[in-house]
Formats: sequence, structure tokens, C-alpha cells
Amino acid sequence: MSVMEKTSHRQHEVFDPKHADHLDTPLRRFLYRPDRLAERLVAPGGRVLDFGCGPGFFTRAFAQRVGETGQVFSADLQEEMLAIVREKMAREGLMHRVTTHRCRPDTIGLPAELNGTFDLATAIFVVHEVPDPERLFSEFATLLKKGGTFFFSEPPILVSGREFSGKIALAESCGFRLVSRSWYFVNRAAVFERV
Ligand SMILES: C[S@@+](CC[C@H](N)C(=O)[O-])C[C@H]1O[C@@H](n2cnc3c(N)ncnc32)[C@H](O)[C@@H]1O
Repeated sequence: MSVMEKTSHRQHEVFDPKHADHLDTPLRRFLYRPDRLAERLVAPGGRVLDFGCGPGFFTRAFAQRVGETGQVFSADLQEEMLAIVREKMAREGLMHRVTTHRCRPDTIGLPAELNGTFDLATAIFVVHEVPDPERLFSEFATLLKKGGTFFFSEPPILVSGREFSGKIALAESCGFRLVSRSWYFVNRAAVFERV
């Protein structure tokens, strides 16, 4: 199997919930500073979609940041991940700010009454696992308010610079304006505005 084939194979592999613990460690908190990311992207009282939330590493920081009047929708394909989010957020007294939602592989599938109500959508280390990124980005565009923010990050070990540029162009074709492209710790990252 060539390097390219290996990469594209791993690209669509869904993260195994057996290893969910690895995604929520003190070291990861120290390196990624989800609290600082939340301060940068989330306004208190806002509505956030944490797509591909896994075991809630970013959900926690977003839920702390939105405060009592905000709301975080934590969406994932795998019920095991959502169960971990619910257990953890309840333990930490944050569950009343969080709604968990199970996606289907080909669609987020949130109810239409939520369209145009989100201030922020994030897709952190997940788009390479999704079979139809164009549909995903279009759904983000539908769910976000005009002027809302989409934060997108991918690990370079799985997504090359060229592939990431391709995804940026795809997001632009789905109703987003690129605001900045940078690094999120050692990962590729882009911030978009819903136009
Ligand atoms: C590598 S984990 C990242 C989790 C989290 N964003 C983090 O960085 O801690 C990717 C997550 O995306 C979820 N996922 C993969 N494909 C998905 C899809 N089509 N829809 C929703 N979630 C998906 C997986 O179940 C997994 O929990």
C-alpha cells in the first residue's frame, strides 16, 4: 500500500471510542488550551455547534464560556462518545448548557428550526472522517447565522497542505469567506465567516 493509499484509508476511518480517554487528558488541555480557543471564538450567551465532539474535550470549554444563557450542541456519529459527554458534563455541572445530538454518517441532521441560529460551528479533527465534506459545509452554512463563525482544524499527519487548501475552497463554495488560515498548535486551521 502506498503512502497516499494509507493516508486516504485512514482519512475515512472513524475514531474508535475505545480510545476516547486519549482525547481528554491534562496534557492535551495544556497543549491545545481549549479555554483560550473558546475565549477567542465564543461570546457568552452564544449558541455553538461542536461537530464531531468526541468525548467532549472542546464541549467543556465551550459550555463554560457560553455561560448560563448560552447553549452548546455536541454532535457525533457515535452514541458511545455522546454518552461520555453527558456523563462528564453532568458530573461537572454543565449538562444544562449542553444538548447532545447523534448524527448520521451522511448528515448532521439537526432539526430545521435550528437553521440560522448558531453563532459558531466547529469541526476539529473530524472532517477527514466524514464521507461528504461538501454536504457537511453546506449544512454548517444553513445552521449558522449570517456573520457566524466556522472554525476548522485538521492534523497535518492525516491532511496535507494541498488537501486542506482544497477543503478551504470547498467551504468557500458553500457560503463561507475565509477570515484567516493559521496553525492551531501543530494543526492546520482556518476561520471562516458565514456570508
Ligand atoms: C478524532 S475524534 C475528535 C474529537 C474531538 N473533536 C476532539 O478533538 O477531541 C473525531 C470524532 O468525530 C466523530 N465523527 C466521525 N465521523 C462523523 C460524522 N460523519 N458525523 C459526526 N461525527 C463524526 C467520531 O465519532 C469522533 O468522535
